[in-house]
Amino acid sequence: MKIAFIGAGYVGLVSAAMFAHLGHNVTCIDNNHDKISALQNGKLPIYEPGLGEYINKARLAGRLSFVLSSDFDSCRSREVSQDPQESKSEEETDAIFIAVGTPPLASGEADLSYIYDATMQVAQSYSENTLIVVKSTIPPGTCKSLESMLRAKGFSHKVASNPEFLREGSAVEDFLNPDRIVIGVSDQKAEATLREIYKPLDPLIIKTDPTTSELIKYASNSFLATKIAFINEMANLCEKVDADVEMLSRGMGLDHRIGEAFLKAGPGFGGSCFPKDILALSHLAKTHEQPCHVLDAVIFSNQNRRTHMARKISNTIGDLKGKVICVLGVTFKAGTDDVRSSPAVDIINILLQQGANIRVYDPEGAAHGSRLLPEATFAKDPYEAATKAEAVVILTEWDEFKLLDFKKLHDTLAKPNMFDFRNILDGEQLQKLRFSYHRIG
Ligand code: NAD
Ligand code: UGA
Repeated sequence: MKIAFIGAGYVGLVSAAMFAHLGHNVTCIDNNHDKISALQNGKLPIYEPGLGEYINKARLAGRLSFVLSSDFDSCRSREVSQDPQESKSEEETDAIFIAVGTPPLASGEADLSYIYDATMQVAQSYSENTLIVVKSTIPPGTCKSLESMLRAKGFSHKVASNPEFLREGSAVEDFLNPDRIVIGVSDQKAEATLREIYKPLDPLIIKTDPTTSELIKYASNSFLATKIAFINEMANLCEKVDADVEMLSRGMGLDHRIGEAFLKAGPGFGGSCFPKDILALSHLAKTHEQPCHVLDAVIFSNQNRRTHMARKISNTIGDLKGKVICVLGVTFKAGTDDVRSSPAVDIINILLQQGANIRVYDPEGAAHGSRLLPEATFAKDPYEAATKAEAVVILTEWDEFKLLDFKKLHDTLAKPNMFDFRNILDGEQLQKLRFSYHRIG
């Protein structure tokens, strides 16, 4: 089928490349000149394992192209059918997916301005035979509002919801093996189009109305975030009663009604989605006079988590003024270069405020991280970051941190304090090497 994407970010780029891999002809459009220019020159603007190969293959096969919005608009305006009643020509695009950002406003609600802008651009450039599909995460009722806006402006396009559930760092794998595909449609033609697009994956498709589909996405992210906040609170309790949070997670998670996933205690959840989506859902609930107290507790708990982590460090090494702290990991999780709402960034900022000198090493996050943290120094390897430091703090669970030469690291440090806030290291081995080892729970 012929499909297009508006937005070549973490979701749009991955989905566009993978749909092309499945055999569709895909055009991926973005208004960011640098991003499109990089993609046209065979460079990846994001770090996502495995994605580059799929993009290269799809481009070579002639099924994937990247276009700057302004270039695209001018050529589309020549192509769009002048007669809206005319039946769909072979050249027409079957569906256009909107995958632009929905960042939080100060109030917590989702900023939908990018969605509304993109939808208007699509309506002006594509005939009403093209289905508009919103892949971005949008509050319940948004597809309906978009259709109302289009009708008020004389357009009759249909708008469907098709939320995305991929995770950064395993996006390719998640796309190819979805637990389910949710489609929120209000007519059979839209349903048939989406079923046809996903047919090569032979997925379990959940068909709903658009509003339920939109809520499934918010509720799923919020539920996963709730599991994380819960285990983090349990980790705090483990520290008080001398229990082990790793065994607690396992013991709970093996009950299939609970499940082991998302029960890993850490420095709090981050990323471009969980924090913003739970805020947006909480805000939406309040506007409907139906507050969700569980969500509010999770937000509160996760915000406190950052300060709690910083306090664990200062409780051990005292006044941080002038002390060098080596931080390993700045991205919000391993496998990505994304530092949006990363717990590491927040924790580093708290340590900086307390007067610490921060040296960071991250295998993929240095470019974005150094822009957000101009006061921190970014080192080229972990040992450089650790030189004469009073502590090493692990904030992202990169595999390479498990394979460090800990003897060398020990000898590089001024004081051998190891704060493993992802519980990825062998504490006994480190203690044998005379580290003072601190982990979570
Ligand atoms: P992103 O910021 O990485 O990408 C958005 C892209 O859209 C940017 O490249 C931007 O330049 C482009 N853009 C914005 N307005 C445009 C316009 N009018 N025309 C053309 N391009 C435009 O965002 P993302 O992380 O890919 O997230 C997109 C949406 O998907 C969000 O709603 C997010 O909540 C949701 N989501 C994200 C993930 C994830 O892993 N990041 C997973 C599932 C869902
Ligand atoms: C998350 C969801 O898992 C995806 O299904 C969803 O599509 C995506 O948000 C989205 O809507 O953008 P992502 O943010 O890429 O994906 O990463 P996760 O693996 O979910 O991790 C989110 C945060 O929770 C990270 O900071 C991670 O370190 C933390 N986390 C995760 C834990 O602290 N413990 C866990 O057990 C799992």
